[in-house]
Amino acid sequence: MMATLNRPSNPNFDAPLLVTTPPLVRAVGLTKRYGRIEAVVDVTVEAYPGEVLGIVGESGSGKSTVLRLLNLEEMPDSGDYHLNIPGLEGQNLLELDRFARREVQIFNIGVVYQNPHLGLRMRFTSSGNVAERLLLTGERTFATLRQAARDSLAISEFPLNRMDDPPRVLSGGMQQRVQLAKALALKPALLLLDEPTTGLDVSVQALVLDTLKHLQRERRMTMILVSHDLGVIRTLADRVMVMRHGRVVEQGLTDQILEDPQDAYTQQLVHAKL
Ligand SMILES: Nc1ncnc2c1ncn2[C@@H]1O[C@H](COP(=O)(O)OP(=O)(O)OP(=O)(O)O)[C@@H](O)[C@H]1O
Ligand SMILES: [Mg+2]
Repeated sequence: MMATLNRPSNPNFDAPLLVTTPPLVRAVGLTKRYGRIEAVVDVTVEAYPGEVLGIVGESGSGKSTVLRLLNLEEMPDSGDYHLNIPGLEGQNLLELDRFARREVQIFNIGVVYQNPHLGLRMRFTSSGNVAERLLLTGERTFATLRQAARDSLAISEFPLNRMDDPPRVLSGGMQQRVQLAKALALKPALLLLDEPTTGLDVSVQALVLDTLKHLQRERRMTMILVSHDLGVIRTLADRVMVMRHGRVVEQGLTDQILEDPQDAYTQQLVHAKL
């Protein structure tokens, strides 16, 4: 793993930091079955601080299941999961009780779903959606909550004159920005994105990708990004993991995987999409 990370052709590559820093995310041997369906089989995910890890693969290959496991929304059948965050070092998160897991999820992990209905209350105000997350800290002062919601919406480059509109009246791109603001409200160490721009039209998609890129560059957020769109992966991801039938078939630096895929399935995927 570290050997491939050392390949110096990626301009975003920050070798000394990556080599000397332990991974922020280290989930080893995750397996998840639904009845007889093997959704995820023996998948290991590592993401380093400030890195964007892309996950690609055809429909049904297990990408969203991996994100749900990393978001502690679901428990795997086996595997372990560590986040190298102060207070959690050495702790297998899968051994925590569900209240402690919920706490880890709320304070350390942000998530943006493809479907905004999964992430938002569509009839609340957008600012209220973000503030709801902030309420979890125990903050109860209206002005403070509103200011914090506004700050988070601003970071997500949401048009602030619309902050009191409910998501249901907003465009798809704006809804994704509200999800992003909500995900970032508690300044998580890890941001999980499941097809965040799928279904948006191309120009809106480009703007949302720009916002994510700024976030990554300026805040060095660690992100795990699921997308079937190799253009999105190429724009954002430093490294890519290719999944098929619940398993990882290939991984490496993005340019390496997209320019010179070794696995037959990855070659097929890359040639089909380019
Ligand atoms: N809650 C569930 N109950 C039963 N089967 C499930 C469940 N969630 C996922 N699966 C199955 O697990 C497999 C992996 O699904 P998953 O949603 O992770 O794939 P994906 O790679 O995200 O696909 P897509 O690109 O279509 O979003 C599929 O066969 C799916 O039908
Ligand atoms: Mg999915």
